[in-house]
Amino acid sequence: MAMILVVDDEPAITIALAKKLRRDGHECLTASSGEEALSRVGAEKLDLIITDVRMPGMSGIELLKQVKLRDASISVIVMSAYTDINFAIEALRGRADDFLLKPFNLDDLSLSVARSLRERSTSSKDLEQLGVQAVAALASAAEARDGHADAHLNDVLRYAVSTGFELGLDEDALRGVWLGSVLHDVGMLKVPEAVLNKLGALSPEDWNLVRQHPEAGAGIIAGVDYLEAARTSILHHHERPDGGGYPSALRGEEISIEGRIVAVASAFASMLGARPHRCALTESDAVSELDRGSESQFDGSVVRAFMSARGAGFLVPLAFRIDHYQP
Ligand SMILES: [Fe+2]
Repeated sequence: MAMILVVDDEPAITIALAKKLRRDGHECLTASSGEEALSRVGAEKLDLIITDVRMPGMSGIELLKQVKLRDASISVIVMSAYTDINFAIEALRGRADDFLLKPFNLDDLSLSVARSLRERSTSSKDLEQLGVQAVAALASAAEARDGHADAHLNDVLRYAVSTGFELGLDEDALRGVWLGSVLHDVGMLKVPEAVLNKLGALSPEDWNLVRQHPEAGAGIIAGVDYLEAARTSILHHHERPDGGGYPSALRGEEISIEGRIVAVASAFASMLGARPHRCALTESDAVSELDRGSESQFDGSVVRAFMSARGAGFLVPLAFRIDHYQP
């Protein structure tokens, strides 16, 4: 049981959330503004604060920052809508413990609360993992906008990390592949919804927007130390060894190994999933596509390692899984 403070300027929301949290066995307080919430920090023994971002007066982001300054042991979950995505990015920088993307159902709330409290009790091993999970929620939102099913990121992670192991990468590079596999398309959050959901062919202007997502993604994680390892995967996952990729038309080994691996893993996962503009491929057709693109679109040695990893069932050690994506 935990002491939880719910902060929202809409009473209907605080009442509904508090009711659910009490049913889950927690003690629950409510506040209708950031200022009121902050006055409770120190006065009450709080374990967790769940706050909306968009409120008159002090925003949820400002509240998050103030709370972490006063008592970093209090977990903070930030609720935001897709249209508030810049707030979500700010929340990431302020080390929010989790995001709840509106609209969410009350079971999502219970899961997020349980996860934040569990991580809090395991303390430092580690703050970083906790941050990664919050970011994974953000990445998951990017994927959802891109028309992918929930399973997509988990698949990219399995394909990419097992391929990295097959290639004998060192721990740092594996970490880059791991984080990059989750975050590679986070820049899609900056692409307008109308473009992502288009059924017909994209116009040159639309393509231009889509092609900015690697750099937009690198911008989103810029300055967040523990996400730095994902940077090259994010920037390079649409580069091609033959120089025909974007955003920088890099060639061969100018493309980071992390980027070359995530390129293969995400392409394979995309081919297996249906998208607004085309049907899913069978696994054997997707394998043929990778073969056909080997050396031109994809790094040949990475494709070979991917095939070996596939033969072994894409095994991923426990340490490289992300709780958030466990079924
Ligand atoms: Fe991408």
